[in-house]
This record gives sequence, structure tokens and C-alpha cells, in this order.
Amino acid sequence: MFPIHRPRRLRKNETIRKMVRETSVSPDNFIYPLFVTFGKDVKKEISSMPGCFQESVDEVVKNAKEVYSLSIPSVILFGIPEHKDEIGSSAYGEHGVVQDAIKAIKDAVPELYVITDVCMCEYTSHGHCGVVKDEEVQNDPTLELLSKEAVSHAKAGADMVAPSDMMDGRVRAIRLALDEEGFQEISIMSYAAKYASAFYGPFREAAESAPQSGDRRSYQMDPANRREALREVAFDIEEGADIIMVKPALAYLDVISDVKDAFDVPVAAYNVSGEYSLVKAAGRLGWVDEERVMMEILTSIKRAGADLILTYFAKEAARILNKPR
Ligand code: PBG
Repeated sequence: MFPIHRPRRLRKNETIRKMVRETSVSPDNFIYPLFVTFGKDVKKEISSMPGCFQESVDEVVKNAKEVYSLSIPSVILFGIPEHKDEIGSSAYGEHGVVQDAIKAIKDAVPELYVITDVCMCEYTSHGHCGVVKDEEVQNDPTLELLSKEAVSHAKAGADMVAPSDMMDGRVRAIRLALDEEGFQEISIMSYAAKYASAFYGPFREAAESAPQSGDRRSYQMDPANRREALREVAFDIEEGADIIMVKPALAYLDVISDVKDAFDVPVAAYNVSGEYSLVKAAGRLGWVDEERVMMEILTSIKRAGADLILTYFAKEAARILNKPR
């Protein structure tokens, strides 16, 4: 007790603060999202996400090279196809935007670890994450499409697939399909505890994937639920997920912490589009110190228990973290 104990002693200067720091953020933990669109020479900034772009394959490759040069080991790809239909058939074509991007990135930067988002919403005309019948998203028929999509990504050379649709049983279906096609070594990172969140707003502009009617509450989780996240994660691990994800990150740090305590698999957290846009907007207005807020957010996600962070801040944060002292 005071005056014997004075916690301020260990805060006296940056050297000692650094020595006793409990959490460190490194570019090694980052996964950078990229939005691939059709065409050539396309690089279109997403208005609600300054610094993020829809890019054609040639431009995505340049971006991927830059990502790798910043010591960020991995990207996750999202596709914006030229054609959308009821069953999202552009999601699994051999020459879909994502499939072409995987090949081109792997040719140019083979060491970059390529993850793909596996979902139907970017490819369906109705914008839902699965097959819609009688105004309901159909679980079991969707599993087949997701499996086809995952296998097509593996065939193109992806290292890992990340199902984000929240259909029941999709990890098992995808694992079986990959194994059947000889892709036993391709990993699965499941969006296991994915909430029906308003923080995805800017992403839906970026990926042009907003549902045309209704919302995603019949498949994504209720933001009020904490214990249910453990149940979702347990199922996905049983079904064969190698890494599990909590999404969004910032409003769900308790969930990240619970999951980290309860399971032994690596935990990823998705620092989603709305979390990014809020910081960017307030930074532009001069209301917060954008750089410090960014680093504090990333640190808090790590401190809560995330091993990996999917974040639109990855390049900016890496530039700061890579600076020599
Ligand atoms: C696709 C998907 C979404 C995000 C990642 N994958 C959107 C959604 O579920 O509506 C959100 C990412 C972000 O907001 O940054 N299902």
C-alpha cells in the first residue's frame, strides 16, 4: 500500500514503460482486406472508407506487393463480380474476380498468404448470404454453393478460406468438400461469432452487397448475446475450423476475451468497416488524433485476446510499427 507501492515508478519514462508493456501489436498479426472488381486499370476509392479501394486484378496485385513490402503477411479477398444472379453463380466460376486475383497475386508475390472470404452476398442479386426461397434464406441448399465457392478458391491457389455467411454446418460442408478434392492442407478460418451489426455499413458500399430487402438477423447473431458466441465457436471448431473469428471487434471485446479463455485455437478479430470509418471521419474533422486512436484500438483488440486482426488500418499501422526507433 502507499507509500510503499507507487505504480507510477514503472511509468516514469518510455524505456521502462516499454519494458513492462503487456501487449504489443505487430504487422505479423495483420490481415489486410482487398476488394477485387472486374475490368482493368480500375482503382476506385470507397467514399465511406478513405484509403480503401475497389480494384481490378492488375491494381490489386500492385496493392498486394505493397502490403507484403510492409511486412504484412496476409490479405483477405472480397469480390465484386460483373454479374449477379439469384444463386450467385459468379462466386465459383473458374474465372471469377477472386479466382483470377488469387492466381495473379500468387504469381507476383508467392509468399503472401492469401485468404478468401467465402459468402454469397457479393454475388447474389438479392444481396443475401445464401439461396433465398419464400423470402427465407435457405440453410442447407446454401451449403452446397459455399462448398463450391471454397473449392474454386482452393483450385485457384488460396491458402485459406474464410466462410462469413453464418449458415449452420458450413464449416463441416466446406471441410468435406475441400478434402474430397484433395485440398486437405487448405485451412479454414470461420467467421464463427459474427453479429448482425450496423458497423458493416461502409463495407456494403465497398462490396456492393447490401441486402435488397430485409436484413441479416435470421442468420447473423444478435448483438445482445454473449454466451451464444461460445456455442457458435464450439460448433465451428468441432466441424473443423482451424482459426475462429469474432466480428465486429471493438464493440465485442468481451466476446473476444471469452472465446480466447475458453478455446485453444487461434482467435481472429475483424476490426470492421464502420469501426474504421468512424475513426477516419472524426480524424478528418480534427476531433480525435487519428493515429493514436488507431493504435489504441488495435492494441485493445490484441489485449482482449485476438491473435490476428483483420483491419483496414493494417498498412497505416504497419508503417508506424516498422519505423526504426
Ligand atoms: C460478407 C461479409 C461482410 C463483412 C465481411 N464479410 C458483410 C456482411 O455480413 O454484411 C463485413 C466487413 C466489414 O464491415 O468490414 N458476408
